[in-house]
Amino acid sequence: MKLAPSILSADFARLADDVDRVKAEADLLHVDVMDGHFVPNLTIGPPVVASLRKHTDLHLDCHLMIDNPGVLLDDFAEAGADGCTVHVELGDPRPLFDKMRALGLRVGLVCNPETPFDAVAPYMDEIDLLLVMSVHPGWGGQAFIPAALDKVRAARDLIDARGLQVEVEIDGGINVETAPAAAAAGADILVAGSAIFHDDDPLAAARRIRAAAAGSSPA
Ligand code: DX5
Ligand code: ZN
Repeated sequence: MKLAPSILSADFARLADDVDRVKAEADLLHVDVMDGHFVPNLTIGPPVVASLRKHTDLHLDCHLMIDNPGVLLDDFAEAGADGCTVHVELGDPRPLFDKMRALGLRVGLVCNPETPFDAVAPYMDEIDLLLVMSVHPGWGGQAFIPAALDKVRAARDLIDARGLQVEVEIDGGINVETAPAAAAAGADILVAGSAIFHDDDPLAAARRIRAAAAGSSPA
């Protein structure tokens, strides 16, 4: 099980410090990019990724909640992103996949809570990462939507049946209560924002989530 702290809930004015506080428990760093159009909220973009890249070797997992990712993929790659994940709700993602591959980015596809698994199933052979949203994209700190687990299970079954190398990531409302079900459903990567960065001790919080996912108590 991998853990991806989401910097959306970090203190943007102390981002490097917040990353340092959790890096011992972070397998990836989840970067939520919002454009004020695809989702109403507005967050960060390539310049912040470039600053993070100078500061950390962690895998920068960029979740693009933006209307037109095609025009920014070059900038994310140039900034040092390791992977970008695009929303299937935007329409045919194949041209974006081609562009990501050409730029050396890991290819991620994401579906919103109301989007059925059938919408992403045709692309499972073409991606490195499937991200299943377990909240409506736009904000941290929302309640976990349990129906997302059905999609994680469906993805896991398809990946195992075909012997694919695709990782399944789940994003939204992950904490010590919800992590066990997400892990049991077959998620490989848990994203957690507020449950980590809104804790007085983010590293301990991350450790608790990892332990909960593994069905044990933190060492
Ligand atoms: C929501 C983002 C999530 C967010 C999760 O649009 O995609 O990555 O940071 O935050 P929590 O863990 O607080 O639900
Ligand atoms: Zn996200």
